[in-house]
Amino acid sequence: MSISSERIPNNVDLSSDTKLQKALEKWQPAYLDWWQEVGPQGFDNDEIYLRTAISVEPSGWAHFDHVKTSDYRWGIFLAPPQKDRTIPCGDNHGKAVWNEVPGAFRKELRRIIVTQADTEPASVEQQRLLGQTAPSLYDMRNLFQVNVEEGRHLWAMVYILHKYFGRDGREEADELLARRSGDADSPRILEAFNKPCRDWLAFFSFTTFTDRDGKYQLGALVESAFDPLSRTCRFMLTEEAHHMYVGQTGIGRVVRKTAEVMKQDPNEEVTRHGAIPLEIIQKYLNEWYSASLDLFGGEDSSNSANYFAAGLKGRWNETTDEKIKDHMALEGEYVMEMPLDDGGTEKRKIPLRRAMNLVLRDSYVEDCVKVIGKWNKVLEESQISQRLTLPHERFNRGQGIYSERGYDTSGAPITDGEWEARRGEFLPTEEDYAYVESLMKPVAEPGKFASWIAPPPKGLNGQPIDFDYVRLMDEKSWLGG
Ligand SMILES: [Fe+2]
Ligand SMILES: [Fe+2]
Repeated sequence: MSISSERIPNNVDLSSDTKLQKALEKWQPAYLDWWQEVGPQGFDNDEIYLRTAISVEPSGWAHFDHVKTSDYRWGIFLAPPQKDRTIPCGDNHGKAVWNEVPGAFRKELRRIIVTQADTEPASVEQQRLLGQTAPSLYDMRNLFQVNVEEGRHLWAMVYILHKYFGRDGREEADELLARRSGDADSPRILEAFNKPCRDWLAFFSFTTFTDRDGKYQLGALVESAFDPLSRTCRFMLTEEAHHMYVGQTGIGRVVRKTAEVMKQDPNEEVTRHGAIPLEIIQKYLNEWYSASLDLFGGEDSSNSANYFAAGLKGRWNETTDEKIKDHMALEGEYVMEMPLDDGGTEKRKIPLRRAMNLVLRDSYVEDCVKVIGKWNKVLEESQISQRLTLPHERFNRGQGIYSERGYDTSGAPITDGEWEARRGEFLPTEEDYAYVESLMKPVAEPGKFASWIAPPPKGLNGQPIDFDYVRLMDEKSWLGG
């Protein structure tokens, strides 16, 4: 199906359901107001080389063109239904999937959908000022691409709420536009989405680690027995891949630049050359990785057991991973490192179903290890001996069994006093933030890049690196000398 002249592009035959169409058309202006208020600030008239989802066919779902973000057409697209799909996991494994919400799980499903949906507008809010300090037009365009797609993910979830959850769903959809990232009275639901994302190093860390959490949460929902949710998330995942690409290659380019400068300067004083020291990069990674681990929820969780049992959420690749043999998970156990009062840990077995948050998180961590490896490859190629690492899962946790006390980045317990004294070793200090901020000067000439980041090896969608990815159409006060 191709893009039509409809107000809301879609492949769900929206025009056949007038009531739903009307409800969504009523929500649309509120969404556009929200985008104006807390979306990218100061780029309303500019033309940005964006991809727009126009269908779900693997060969051509995306259409690239220069568009104003205010003219962007957010659409509703679900991956096509899989014939005879059955419930991949839990007590009802093997039975037919649901095309309506069963009354027994309505509350849980709504909660799962709203929690996922809330992250989408939150990240747009967190990133709303970053366009004004973009290190290049290429990066500026990537930021806006991520932003418009998070907006589309919100649309995807709001469609499900409106279509399947009646009045409650409509109220939830309104609430999604009312909460604000970091707001004291009406914050976003999950903590990582209330953290300030104050510079581009934070943005790349966020898109590497926090968007990757999104990948795994969406992956768990792809395995849902509620088929419309599964299909929605399946298509969202195709867009998500680009967000993580932006993060991973972004940090990779920062590391490359730092490595180049380290080699040129015999004293390796990278700050003299406007690059970012590896120590600061490491601290940003520590900050966003630990915050993202929190998003998986408690390690020993009765909610996760219930969700799995009901078939609301599965494991990563539940359907396709041949290593997963037992889709009921009624018998397995998971050995967990429980913290003890003296700071040590004790191995404890919990029923596998109760450990599903942890099982999903393990898949995530495995993925993050690969990403760190790619960045270290850059250091290796540049013959720099330092390496980046992932902090221990116990480090800096706000959720779960390790949140009760302090641990250093190696996972060793430390006292509150030690934590205070050594905090600046692990996490960015105000000085580190100030240094990074001092580098955040916009570069808006095609093919030029800021001092702290290497150009990408190639442009986007076959375009050259010096392509006009963003056409700035009016005077920008923040660009002045
Ligand atoms: Fe998203
Ligand atoms: Fe994303």
